[in-house]
Amino acid sequence: MTEPSYLSEVRESYDTVANAYAAMVKPPSELDPLSRSMLTAFAELVQASGLGPVADLGCGPGKVTAHLAGLGVSPIGIDVSPKMIELARTAFPDLPFSVGSITALEFADDALGGILAFYSTHHTPPELLPLVFAEFHRTLAPGGHLLLVGHVGSGEHRRPTQAYGGLPVSFESYRLPPGQLAQLVNRAGFTIDAQLVQEPDEKLTWKIASFLAHKPISQKASLTS
Ligand SMILES: C[S@@+](CC[C@H](N)C(=O)[O-])C[C@H]1O[C@@H](n2cnc3c(N)ncnc32)[C@H](O)[C@@H]1O
Repeated sequence: MTEPSYLSEVRESYDTVANAYAAMVKPPSELDPLSRSMLTAFAELVQASGLGPVADLGCGPGKVTAHLAGLGVSPIGIDVSPKMIELARTAFPDLPFSVGSITALEFADDALGGILAFYSTHHTPPELLPLVFAEFHRTLAPGGHLLLVGHVGSGEHRRPTQAYGGLPVSFESYRLPPGQLAQLVNRAGFTIDAQLVQEPDEKLTWKIASFLAHKPISQKASLTS
């Protein structure tokens, strides 16, 4: 199957900026308290479920994947950028990382106990998000948890020409309204347990939305919840 052009742009752009990104982006231990607390709550919920590993989808250089390991879950990092995966493997040689896309995950149905998508779905054109969230739903075990985090807005999109210290990029970024994202997560079959919207401040340029959700044990549970 021919790859959509946006995916090649994302891969090439993140391959180009990978080193700069890894140097510039702070580790989760230095994130704001609310962002850290969502990661901690997610890890605790996954542990309590006793289900399978956690996929960190769009893991970049693996700092968040390693943070999850520190919180006691078994993470697997996946990213479409081979350069990001190379950096993640070098920095965290004891953790598993693979090249792959959130649009077609190489996990069996119900294989995962948790899915983290941390600032990794905003380059996917909105019309393809139902496909991505369907993949999340297919691969997550019933009772498993999803944490989706990213910048949100009023539906605008932008195509920057440079990023992370002025390096050339060609991807597009979308900032959907939180309500639209919540609707897409629900429509994929998840039950949303908590939503957090963090307002911009002197440190934050854009709103951040976090959705903590789970895949119901049975379809009946989903329809009645
Ligand atoms: C802003 S970075 C975030 C990386 C990491 N989650 C973190 O917080 O440091 C976005 C990452 O998502 C990855 N990504 C974007 N679209 C993807 C896709 N379709 N499949 C897999 N990874 C993707 C990019 O390659 C990039 O590494």
